[in-house]
Amino acid sequence: MTATGSSRTTPADITAAAAASFDGCTDPRLRELMQSLVRHLHGFAVETSLTEEEWRGLIGVLTDTGNITDARRQEFILWSDALGLSMLVDALAHELPPGATESTVLGPFYVPGAPLREYGESMVVEAGAGTPALVYGRVLDTAGAPIAGAELDVWQNGADMLYAVQRPEAEEDHLRGRYLTREDGSYAFIAVRPVPYPIPDDGPVGRMLSSTGRHPWRPAHIHMIVRAPGYKTVTTHVFDATSKYLDSDTVFAVKPSLLRDFRERSADDPERPAGVEGEWVSLENDIVLAPGSDGGEVVDPGRTA
Ligand code: BEZ
Ligand code: FE
Repeated sequence: MTATGSSRTTPADITAAAAASFDGCTDPRLRELMQSLVRHLHGFAVETSLTEEEWRGLIGVLTDTGNITDARRQEFILWSDALGLSMLVDALAHELPPGATESTVLGPFYVPGAPLREYGESMVVEAGAGTPALVYGRVLDTAGAPIAGAELDVWQNGADMLYAVQRPEAEEDHLRGRYLTREDGSYAFIAVRPVPYPIPDDGPVGRMLSSTGRHPWRPAHIHMIVRAPGYKTVTTHVFDATSKYLDSDTVFAVKPSLLRDFRERSADDPERPAGVEGEWVSLENDIVLAPGSDGGEVVDPGRTA
């Protein structure tokens, strides 16, 4: 600030000064991120003529978000999810060749270290979890060749709408498991038919949803992370193509290519898997992996539930 006398300081002067404060940052990427952040934040305030009261309200929301966040609850990522940022960052990070299974949001209910289960084994540990579902298919490369030894890391909610990690009294390994593909790329497991459920809405994100007329629901889905050496890991879902909320998923994670039909089967269907009682459903879902390598790590920035 060098001028003296009667020259007035404009909003643009303030933005320029805040951006220029990072000119000396020696890390070029950090400099770019901070200067762009300043410009977009200031642009938001200018475009909306943000009032002091609204600014104080935003600070309050951020404070509430920090206060509700702990090792089990990550409200900042929930904001990112509910504003579509998680899906945008995912799309920017995972450009895939045609035919490869598309990625979607990880969500807060993934817990690493699910038990390794046998081909066809059930991941239903607690009784009464929902309608049994035989989920099967193959893991293939983009040329259609089977991938043997690929790992599917699977988790889902039950008919009570909850993931095991959301219920302190739950069996830890209920409705989750890791499965390896056979020589022909095939996998199979017993799950339950998933149901729609609301994202955690008892905090600041829930208040934003209700005050803006949005609902907190996600359509029915099963989560999968699929890994194989020499291929890009994909974090994805399979959605029930008949579910409610496919057109209004509160975290914008539905991609049409991930919709599948659950086939309803009667109790006397000769293909009923051993151990399954009564009516059941089946779901065929092939996964196609893109060539490449990313170490197979799923980066979860510190949240579990
Ligand atoms: C989920 O699918 O588990 C999920 C994703 C984003 C926010 C909340 C839940
Ligand atoms: Fe989910």
